[in-house]
Amino acid sequence: MTRRSIGIIVNGVTGRMGYRQHLVRSLLAIRESGGVALADGTTIWPEPVLVGRNETKLRELAERHGLTDWTTDLTSALARDDVEIYFDAQVTQQREKAIRQAIEAGKHIYTEKPLAEDTAAALDLARAADAAGVRTGVVQDKLFLPGLRKLKRLIDGGFFGRILSVRGEFGYWVFEGDWQPAQRPSWNYRTEDGGGIVVDMFPHWHYVLEELFGRVTAVSCVTATHVPERVDEAGHPYAATADDAAYGIFELDGGVIAQINSSWAVRVYRDELVEFQVDGTEGSAIAGLRNCRVQHRALTPKPVWNPDLPATEDFRAQWAEVPDNEEFDNGFKAQWEAYLRHVVAGEPFRWDFLAGARGVQLAELGLRSAREGARVEVPELRS
Ligand SMILES: NC(=O)c1ccc[n+]([C@@H]2O[C@H](COP(=O)([O-])OP(=O)(O)OC[C@H]3O[C@@H](n4cnc5c(N)ncnc54)[C@H](O)[C@@H]3O)[C@@H](O)[C@H]2O)c1
Repeated sequence: MTRRSIGIIVNGVTGRMGYRQHLVRSLLAIRESGGVALADGTTIWPEPVLVGRNETKLRELAERHGLTDWTTDLTSALARDDVEIYFDAQVTQQREKAIRQAIEAGKHIYTEKPLAEDTAAALDLARAADAAGVRTGVVQDKLFLPGLRKLKRLIDGGFFGRILSVRGEFGYWVFEGDWQPAQRPSWNYRTEDGGGIVVDMFPHWHYVLEELFGRVTAVSCVTATHVPERVDEAGHPYAATADDAAYGIFELDGGVIAQINSSWAVRVYRDELVEFQVDGTEGSAIAGLRNCRVQHRALTPKPVWNPDLPATEDFRAQWAEVPDNEEFDNGFKAQWEAYLRHVVAGEPFRWDFLAGARGVQLAELGLRSAREGARVEVPELRS
């Protein structure tokens, strides 16, 4: 067995996503499970190079995991020959500049979403990366979640007949930060710092809809800032200038209508933090992060509307659980493994910068729809 080490810059590793999902749950977890095995017997072995702004935080974080390779100097890390991949989990506003630098240094690039702050910049990054011949990827973790994998299995197996509509409900209460600390960073609530739920969530909804149901051809969206003042990490009140809820309708190729509510100002009366209901002529499903339940046409009850009578049916009990039938790994880790195979062995990987740019485009057009109070068509982006 040959071990193929690969140096990976993890920029923004002190952040929520950079640390937990990408370093600990993906790259270190890959090492713990023995690396990524290729068909020819080679094992890909990630060697993280931790990059950030704060020396103390980086040193402490590295020591916690027995790592020694860290720096606050991105330029020198990019100059190293043993570093082949640049990964970015910084705040969104810092991303474009750093990715351009990585392209110039000839590194392959994997990044958190959104790829850039606007479509023009995202498309430009996709073109520059193509011209430089580097292999790109954008995180699309929701596709790898057990609930959505089971939903995809149902679609591939023809369970739904003709799919009619999709209803997504995403969200939870994010504390304002006064009497209980907020569970998300304060920049998420300031437009001037790259925040807002549309910019955050529409890239996710884009790839979920496109991969499972069809290309998004038009968007209608209403946004709101339900909680206008919040308290930041230092205990200072600030004006929440960004949208904290978005009510979107997405028209898809083939006629499917998708409606997705996204909100950080909603209390959860659901089984999971995101759930998608899919209704088709032959059956329906509810998919969450982990679970997926179905109701077939033949088992569909026949309720009759009569508000004078109490409900006689236990509607929730009439759905059946879709079995796992396989082991599901962490979604971020699964996508990292696919990306590493792509870089090292040239295996196909379709979640590239152009796919990321399409997600940015949907967020941009969703915001335009909200601003103009209009339905906006989504033109097809090409490289
Ligand atoms: N895939 C997902 O499900 C998912 C979920 C949440 C966030 N994200 C994305 O991940 C990225 C990071 O989000 P997060 O929630 O981890 O944020 P965070 O605030 O916890 O972390 C941000 C990181 O960026 C660094 N940074 C670099 N320059 C900075 C600057 N000028 N100001 C502030 N921080 C700076 C910080 O030090 C920190 O390491 C965002 O682009 C976000 O859209 C993705």
